[in-house]
Amino acid sequence: MDWLREPGFFGTHATMGADLSQLMATIFTTLFVVGWFKARRGQASAHHWLMFCGMLAMVGFFTAYYLFRQLGVLAVEGKEGFGGSQELYDHVFVPILVVHIILVIIGLVMAIYMIILGFRAQMFVGDRRQLNERPLLTTWKRIGAIVGSTTALALLLFALRGATAGFSLRKFEVYAGLIILVAFVLGIETTIQRLWPSGAQRHRALGLFTMVIYCVLFVTGTTTYTMLYILYPGKIG
Ligand code: HEM
Repeated sequence: MDWLREPGFFGTHATMGADLSQLMATIFTTLFVVGWFKARRGQASAHHWLMFCGMLAMVGFFTAYYLFRQLGVLAVEGKEGFGGSQELYDHVFVPILVVHIILVIIGLVMAIYMIILGFRAQMFVGDRRQLNERPLLTTWKRIGAIVGSTTALALLLFALRGATAGFSLRKFEVYAGLIILVAFVLGIETTIQRLWPSGAQRHRALGLFTMVIYCVLFVTGTTTYTMLYILYPGKIG
């Protein structure tokens, strides 16, 4: 994957990898905004396909990409990548980056969650897709089953990985983190379900929230790109 480290195609100080990631972020954000407008206009079928395929492609791309780069985002490597002053780095660059990374995690969870909610909250009237206004609540039994099966799966994967690649605290943290994340998301979800029992209302409210997250993600991502590779390029990149 060495070509990812070669100079990028936008002609800035960025590497191929950073340019590829910025290009894909632009394409995906545009796709989701178009999908959002389709929903607002009541073109639910176009909305469904754009969001469904777009979100799967996005989750797939960024997971593969970050695994290849081994999270080697310049920023995580430290100050050398940034050519601006220490104040600018501490008070502007790092805070924007931290917000960006937190939103990436929320954005990934919301992508998967919204796809599932889309399928659960939709109904067909003739051949037209529509949101169903009836209450859509997850029972405690089902929540228990989801947490239970995730825990079992994570333990199994941990045991398999441990047996083949050796046990480590780091691996344990990753799998424990996954279980905690799923339990945490379900906890928030049950609270939200009580606030908006109707699946349709929930899809609209959380869909709007997700779209705002994606727009802020694009802005913070583009800002870090601009600062690192155009305004204040450093030693690497
Ligand atoms: C994955 C990300 C998704 C996001 C962020 C999202 C977001 C939204 C938003 C914000 C609305 C309300 C638009 C408005 O009236 O203001 C909406 C409506 C809707 N969504 Fe989604 N959605 C997603 C996925 C899906 C999927 C996968 C399906 C189907 C399986 C779906 C089916 C629908 C339907 C049927 C409507 C109603 C459209 C209408 O009013 O005719 N959505 N969505």
